[in-house]
Amino acid sequence: MQLLQRDPDPLFDTFPGLETERLSLRRLSVADAPALFDMLSHPDIARFTARKPLKSVADAIALLRGVGLQFATRRSIRWGVVRQGENEILATVGLHDWDRYHRHIAIGFDVHRSEWGQGIGSEVVKAVCAYAFDHLSVHRVEAHVMKGNQASRKLLEGVGFEHEGVLQKRMYKDGLQHDVLSYSMVSHRKDLTH
Ligand SMILES: CC(C)(COP(=O)(O)OP(=O)(O)OC[C@H]1O[C@@H](n2cnc3c(N)ncnc32)[C@H](O)[C@@H]1OP(=O)(O)O)[C@@H](O)C(=O)NCCC(=O)NCCS
Repeated sequence: MQLLQRDPDPLFDTFPGLETERLSLRRLSVADAPALFDMLSHPDIARFTARKPLKSVADAIALLRGVGLQFATRRSIRWGVVRQGENEILATVGLHDWDRYHRHIAIGFDVHRSEWGQGIGSEVVKAVCAYAFDHLSVHRVEAHVMKGNQASRKLLEGVGFEHEGVLQKRMYKDGLQHDVLSYSMVSHRKDLTH
């Protein structure tokens, strides 16, 4: 019998906890369902995303199971964000669609409505982009923003993303096709060996 060896995977072998100045980014668990429900049931959170506001803690549990499955099957990761020394989730941030050959990945994020405007979104997006550039060898992190989502645009531009163009009618929501703005942050490193 031949033992098949796989290269180590920096994202999916062990859950990568991260720390910023004020925050810890940690693995989500089913115990976070009530806090996640509180956050993702607010209508403002879903206004510019494809998701609908959660209706019950059971919805949050289902979402958490999906997040766990995505990680276990090495498709995407989503961190729960807490203040250092506390345990209540106040934001989430995720990476998905990692293309290892072409070296790009996409980011998504949301912050509890009651915490908006304190720089939390910017702090976590900066940290996750730095992690992606330093540990996943990507040269590009991309973000898709529904037209009208000024808060997200401001956040992305503030941390160094550039607006690249409009993806017309890319997103379906509430009976309409919406334009989506393409943003990216790129690294200009030259280490291009495969
Ligand atoms: C987008 C979101 C994550 C921003 O989080 P946040 O923690 O409030 O962001 P920050 O405090 O880091 O603010 C970043 C910048 O956006 C600005 N901003 C925040 N909310 C804003 C709003 N509603 N309108 C305009 N600008 C806004 C801030 O003033 C700040 O600008 P500055 O650096 O010049 O001061 C938050 O509004 C959210 O969760 N929205 C719902 C989910 C969502 O849309 N996610 C993104 C999908 S692409």
